[in-house]
Amino acid sequence: MDKPAILGNTPVFDDRLGIVSPRLPKLEQIQDPLSEALRTGQLTNHAFHVPQFEKALSDRLKMPNVISVGNATLGLILALEALNRDGEVILPSFTYCATAHALYWSRHKPVFVDILPDTFTIDPAAVESAITPNTAAIMAVHIYGHPCEIDTLEEISKRYGLPLLFDSAHAFGSQYQNEPIGQFGDAEIFSFHATKVFPVGEGGCITTHDKNLAEHLKLSRKFGDPGDENTRFPGMNAKMQEFNAIIGVEMLKVVDEHIANRHRYAAYLIERLGRLPGISFQSIKPNVFSNYQNFVILVDEVYFGVSRDMLFDALLAENILARKYFFPPLHLHDAYSDYRSINLPITEFVSKRVLCLPFYSEMTEKMLDKICVAIEQVHFHANIVREYYSNLA
Ligand SMILES: Cc1ncc(COP(=O)(O)O)c(C=O)c1O
Repeated sequence: MDKPAILGNTPVFDDRLGIVSPRLPKLEQIQDPLSEALRTGQLTNHAFHVPQFEKALSDRLKMPNVISVGNATLGLILALEALNRDGEVILPSFTYCATAHALYWSRHKPVFVDILPDTFTIDPAAVESAITPNTAAIMAVHIYGHPCEIDTLEEISKRYGLPLLFDSAHAFGSQYQNEPIGQFGDAEIFSFHATKVFPVGEGGCITTHDKNLAEHLKLSRKFGDPGDENTRFPGMNAKMQEFNAIIGVEMLKVVDEHIANRHRYAAYLIERLGRLPGISFQSIKPNVFSNYQNFVILVDEVYFGVSRDMLFDALLAENILARKYFFPPLHLHDAYSDYRSINLPITEFVSKRVLCLPFYSEMTEKMLDKICVAIEQVHFHANIVREYYSNLA
């Protein structure tokens, strides 16, 4: 087997393979509504395309209330504020910073808890142990598109009378027990960021069964003004733009095809990389359907031969940009330095080993093969790669 590029060989890719690559509509598909928006100057304020997009999302998610927002971070903040409860919010540390940062902006205190070792989603037993009289809510995250243990979390939330929110930024198109993600908890918050399975640029939405909550959120995303210039409370500007909704309406037509592609690519990678010692994957539970927002491997240095960090560097030398996502976990970020000493063993175990591979809604067999070849080469020549690192030290 050829030596890896980090040892001087030619990289498997001539050009850099980025971590994500959104598949967006062609210009001709959205030309008419785009031109019309530009001609009329109706770019925002829920003119036409945003309500149309919300209706399409509502049909798709089988949810009566879908509230579009400018991005998921704003959606998280608004949903947390709308609970109108002070205190602590229980959340995983193994998530993107936006989940916790939203608590800062809604003036809640984060309580980070551990994750499950197989799906990397929040551990319901850890959630229950962290509940105190100061708990205001639970915020669970469908990591990489894999739904949380929703039944157990809903049962805990009911038993303790605590609101349950889902950060569903990763999970558009995922399902739990054959029902679309978006149906659960007190509210779910999606991201339609360019990096997501369902990309519109910047955008997101909140789903809820609660009509009063929905009405509040509709007001709070536009300054708290119902339209009579008399603001009922200090809301913010969290409106989605017409351009993003135009893209969203078009993307809804292809998202299922994209997710089906991702399933095929994941099956290929699991079959091929699963043959390598020391490589394992996020488990997908039988009662869920993941949209495969991300494809991640765990690298066990002892069996694979090199560490996750060395593999990351070696892939970069092959022009493959992987991502250590989520490393460090949030309780080890400078932004959360007060939490540095908390003990989250599974979170730390996973975050030290996890590597997100480039994963798109449209990939060629050649691309997938080359990613596998690059990883296989590093494993095959692990001794020399390790030696190369010890010479650097
Ligand atoms: C888990 C999670 N929550 C929230 C967000 C924030 O989403 P947005 O970029 O739409 O604000 C992200 C973005 O990547 C995310 O990964």
